[in-house]
Amino acid sequence: MRKLFCTLLLSAATTTFFAQTKTEKFVDNLLAKMTLEEKIGQLNQYNGDWGATGKITPDGDKESQIKQGKVGSMLNVTGVDKTRKLQELAMQSRLHIPLLFGQDVIHGFRTTFPIPLGETASWDLALIEKSAHVAATEAAAYGIHWTFAPMVDVARDPRWGRVMEGAGEDTYLGSKVAIARVKGFQGNGLGNVDAVMACAKHFAAYGAAVGGRDYNSVDMSLRQLNETYLPPFKAAVDAGAATLMNSFNDINGVPATGNRYILREKLKKEWGFKGFVVSDWGSIGEMIPHGFAKDGYDAALKAITAGSDMDMESRCYRDHLKQLVADGKVPVALIDDAVKRILLKKYELGLFDDPYRFCNEERQKAQENNIENRKFAREVGAKSIVLLKNDAVKGQPLLPLSAENKTIALIGPFMKATIANHGFWSIAFPDDSTRIVSQYDGIAHRSNGQSSIVYAKGCNVNDSDRSGFAEAIEAAQKADVVVMSLGEAHDMSGEAKSRSSIRIPGVQEELLKAICATGKPVVLLVNAGRPLVFEWASDNVPAILYTWWLGTEAGNSIADVLFGDYNPSGKLPMSFPRTEGQIPIYYNHYNTGRPAKDDADKLYVSAYIDLDNSPKYAFGYGLSYTHFDISNLRLSSDKMAVRGGKIGVTVDVKNTGNYDGEEVVQLYIRDLVGSVVRPVKELKGFKKIFLKKGEATSVSFQLTPDDLKFYNNEVQLVNEAGEYNVFVGNSSQASLAGHFSLVN
Ligand code: BGC
Repeated sequence: MRKLFCTLLLSAATTTFFAQTKTEKFVDNLLAKMTLEEKIGQLNQYNGDWGATGKITPDGDKESQIKQGKVGSMLNVTGVDKTRKLQELAMQSRLHIPLLFGQDVIHGFRTTFPIPLGETASWDLALIEKSAHVAATEAAAYGIHWTFAPMVDVARDPRWGRVMEGAGEDTYLGSKVAIARVKGFQGNGLGNVDAVMACAKHFAAYGAAVGGRDYNSVDMSLRQLNETYLPPFKAAVDAGAATLMNSFNDINGVPATGNRYILREKLKKEWGFKGFVVSDWGSIGEMIPHGFAKDGYDAALKAITAGSDMDMESRCYRDHLKQLVADGKVPVALIDDAVKRILLKKYELGLFDDPYRFCNEERQKAQENNIENRKFAREVGAKSIVLLKNDAVKGQPLLPLSAENKTIALIGPFMKATIANHGFWSIAFPDDSTRIVSQYDGIAHRSNGQSSIVYAKGCNVNDSDRSGFAEAIEAAQKADVVVMSLGEAHDMSGEAKSRSSIRIPGVQEELLKAICATGKPVVLLVNAGRPLVFEWASDNVPAILYTWWLGTEAGNSIADVLFGDYNPSGKLPMSFPRTEGQIPIYYNHYNTGRPAKDDADKLYVSAYIDLDNSPKYAFGYGLSYTHFDISNLRLSSDKMAVRGGKIGVTVDVKNTGNYDGEEVVQLYIRDLVGSVVRPVKELKGFKKIFLKKGEATSVSFQLTPDDLKFYNNEVQLVNEAGEYNVFVGNSSQASLAGHFSLVN
């Protein structure tokens, strides 16, 4: 504690000695005027008027507490009328310090976009950045200053419901997407009325919860933590993320909220993070049931000491910090540091200039139904869809649907669904179905004049009612082609939505089998917030599109792909297991001392005796209506110097099919021998390119020693001279290879 105290004093002194910025001067002056109670107030965040993801603590009269300067921030208050009213109360406090309004703006706001995992399947960073920016613009117009996004947790276990909120299993892709989302949310900088503060969450390793069970423990080596789970956070911090949020889990026995190693050592010291850390909902108080803190007093002590700055909903700071200071357990400097971080952000947002800066009725009105944003959401939706399979029926790939299909049967419980298309975590207007384009409407509208439509729901999402089967079979029999929309319910993924079975629930697969038995060609749309297991469908249905949850324009995006107005280009951001028995499954695993091959004898090798090791669909996989040949891999040199070296990697890509289209060209490396074992493949670059049919181009990447660094057994980030393979292709199963050496 003494060491920490001295460091804080030293850093305060250093800031005063060297030129202070105007902002810091303002904040220091304000801090000097604040009482301890007022300081503690800044660290206190209350929930507003929306449903909660955890226990709500009764607060008595929140409004009078705001007037007394006992509240620094509110979450879940939507709409400028409401934020203005509360801000007016804050302006009655002694020092007139404005409130911060935060909310989970996870994948859109008024206009919803594909769930983040789905959007990541676009592998289109500019698109992802723009969608975050649109969300920020809409949210800021509704009075929000701060989104609790992006979630940058690497997640290798699809049983975990929160995989839908992130960018999937890969550290490299996850880091790039983290940067895009932070930049999108924060736009041209805090203080602009179309920017909100980003919050990289959940710090850290939440995605590695044992058994994929939400809120569960995490136990892993520090090497793994640093190499796989922390880099997306570092990337978000380097991109300027204003805030971070704690995670609920413990890491190797120490809850993340009270974890000095990740908060003080890594984040605030090593990475030089200048923003602030908010707890997750009640996570300071949850250190008591964790068995890490004796009571609220102890929890507050451990959280503030570790480096958690703002208390979301646990009340531990509000109720115990003053006593902790009086008892000499918490130096005021520690509280000052946290308060200062929060005030700096309020200043940067321009709230001290104008606390009502984000309370503009006209701006809000303009974002109520922004047509341009909807058009963009349609594009993002189409680009997020992944074509998993497209077999030939009567000599032609089934998709895109040909005009010769005179009658199309639309079947399944999601065809006419509305709010389901929002997906989980669309909390600002969860029940507003008015602007959503259902899948039925999107497809019927597009096929107007070309084909006639018959419809049957067939069954519900998750029960055993088969009474609709007959009608669905009849509909299929009348049609030339069937489009079936099946999947898990939209609220079966998300927070607290871990599933032990990740199959399509209820009798939906049974219905699918009955429809396939009619002999009609079937296109399957899979709606889900995670990779699902659907082996029978994969093996028996000719065409499959993975459609996640696509948001406001879902139906139009799906129609664009079905009819070929957009040629699908999505690539999976997570490996899809064959069955749950393979979980956790991820492409960048180690080789082991007894590597197995799917098509070889499985005795005494690292394999299951009853199941192949490979996934059903690999990370990075996704088809197109056209075909791309990737060939002629060449390296600019077969040696790279550890100091300042670089190697160019180039391939030729040709669109050899019948449609214009986009391809994601992916580069992977393998470090053949290391002081610690290295993954069989690691993504180190990708480029999404567009080629007209028949067109060819070459695609180049550059590798530098930084791309080859890894954490050694002493948890140091190092380069080691040695031999490397490089692979380029259109999935993690890329086999086109080259070779080079890293030399000292
Ligand atoms: C979630 C966070 C979210 C917070 C506020 C928690 O339960 O874990 O991701 O930001 O609630 O809604």
